Amino acid sequence: MTYAAITGWGKCLPPAVLTNHDLSGMLDTSDEWIVSRTGISERRISHVGLEELAYVAAARALAAAGLAGSSVELIVFGTCSHDDQVPNMASGIQRRIGAQPAAAYDINTACTSFLYGLSTATALIRTGVVRNALVIGAELISPFMDWSDRNVAVLFGDGAAAVVLEASAREEGLLAEKLGCYGEAREILRVQGMGGTYANRGVLYGITRWQFEGQEIFKRAVAGMSGACEEALARVHKTAAEVDLVVPHQANLRIIEAVAKRAGLPMERVFVNIQRYGNMSSATVPVALCEALEARRVRAGALLLLPGFGGGLSFCAHAVRWGARVTPLGTTDVELPPNELPAAEILRRCLERKTHPAPGAASAHPFG
Ligand code: ACO
Repeated sequence: MTYAAITGWGKCLPPAVLTNHDLSGMLDTSDEWIVSRTGISERRISHVGLEELAYVAAARALAAAGLAGSSVELIVFGTCSHDDQVPNMASGIQRRIGAQPAAAYDINTACTSFLYGLSTATALIRTGVVRNALVIGAELISPFMDWSDRNVAVLFGDGAAAVVLEASAREEGLLAEKLGCYGEAREILRVQGMGGTYANRGVLYGITRWQFEGQEIFKRAVAGMSGACEEALARVHKTAAEVDLVVPHQANLRIIEAVAKRAGLPMERVFVNIQRYGNMSSATVPVALCEALEARRVRAGALLLLPGFGGGLSFCAHAVRWGARVTPLGTTDVELPPNELPAAEILRRCLERKTHPAPGAASAHPFG
């Protein structure tokens, strides 16, 4: 039997930090409200495009695995905040790491895109289609945010991370998962402005309005993730007591706590880093996984549980057996270009581009 071991991991967080105090100068909100309702204290705002963030994360993951970019056979790029729809994001990473002619595709299930990508890449390795894969979760939410809407602007951030999978005869890597979607509730999380529907109405790319029913999303997130945890564990014949560490999607600390309670998983065995990054959509789980490894919270042979939910409303949970190695084989000197600008200034320039588009660009258009 062939398995798909996770042999490399790497993250890339843009350096500019937007704190709750910064946000309370832009919106009618407060650090106290944001921390008490969400657990978030700060988030990152990127000064570079999505491909750049993902490339640095990918280079670090490859170095950690000791795998040359030219040896990669498959690239799966999980995101909902593409630089471009065509060509896709994965082909850009293929070119940057020199992996021609590896297969390269994007996957979009919003915040669960990395985990769904982990599923498909693992399946392609386990069935012998490819021998290895690079799976990326990366998001550049800030240009698509409605920075006038306090209901959503306080929740999200930018970031990227990647893992390397390699065929293995040992029983490790992703062992079982539960994937699902509440399509009937898809309207409760919709970003108006991202997609052809709006382009055809002349909406300027990046001008958005978020349809976001926070409390309904909250309820379905808890139900979807806790149910998926139980099913994924049942598929590997394990109980919550046998899980060494839970690395959940980080959208709201209260959601994480509610899922842990329902699934019978004590918070001491749940990895949380939402306070520093907010919800980075598909990047949250792989960034948290990298930081759990850095913090020595993942031991060799550990059983990990990775629950997620996102727009769609997609939900899932993945049971992963970690391998023998918990430290990177190598490092890389690949870095982001330097940034001198504070996060608020990056945002100000981004908003200026939206309200003063280049000559010939489509004009902003009211939603209706
Ligand atoms: N600052 C201050 N007040 C605020 C803010 C803010 N940033 N945002 C909302 N409020 C106000 C509301 O207007 C409301 O005021 P009102 O009572 O006068 O109407 C009040 O605070 C309470 O709002 P609630 O919606 O009841 O707050 P709740 O405790 O439910 O928390 C939250 C809201 C944080 C959005 C929560 O519902 C949540 O986390 N939901 C899940 C959302 C999520 O994480 N989605 C991620 C999916 S993203 C993806 O997949 C791409």
